[in-house]
Amino acid sequence: MKNPDEIKVWDPLVRLFHWGLVVTFAICYITEEEFMDLHVWSGYAILVLLAVRIIWGFIGTEHARFSDFIYRPSKVWEYTREVLYCRARRYIGHNPAGGAMIVLFFVALLLTTISGIMLYGADEQAGPMATIMSGSGELVEDLLEEVHEFFANFTLLLVFIHVGGVLFESLLHRENLIRAMINGRKKA
Ligand code: HEM
Repeated sequence: MKNPDEIKVWDPLVRLFHWGLVVTFAICYITEEEFMDLHVWSGYAILVLLAVRIIWGFIGTEHARFSDFIYRPSKVWEYTREVLYCRARRYIGHNPAGGAMIVLFFVALLLTTISGIMLYGADEQAGPMATIMSGSGELVEDLLEEVHEFFANFTLLLVFIHVGGVLFESLLHRENLIRAMINGRKKA
């Protein structure tokens, strides 16, 4: 039963993107050489999810749009300080700190997946960059491996901060943000 006091905030594409990203990132992180095919295909899936979400950020529903949640750095900083003092106001869509986190996620995930595809081409002569990357030498391979690993771990660090922030905000405003990302609805 729908609660009449609630409004629709996250459209189905945003929710599918989010939980799809959670699953594919988890698969990528726990699989490596042992399950290379699964690792690679989950990485491609992340790239497709990102591409669709970036397009949706321009043409999607109100709170899915970048214009709804990208704020200038001074606003992000001001909001983060307000959160630390437990006096941040509630936002229906993403708050300024959440918006900045989304940008960081997108950049980190793009750098992780792109370096992964380059490494796969150089190391295994496979994937869409096999022709360009094959024969690129050990130095390039080592560098790509470092970059790929660094951004994968950086993304994991962002996930911890993100989940911590979600739980903190849920307590601060006494609303279940995780439930909202599942059913798309929030108290009006
Ligand atoms: C089980 C762990 C996770 C939980 C409980 C969780 C929860 C949430 C919630 C509640 C939101 C909405 C925040 C708001 O109200 O503004 C959100 C947004 C978001 N989360 Fe997570 N998250 C999790 C894992 C992840 C992971 C692993 C990633 C990336 C690898 C991620 C990336 C994002 C992104 C990009 C958004 C913005 C969604 C959009 O607007 O399209 N999350 N998350």
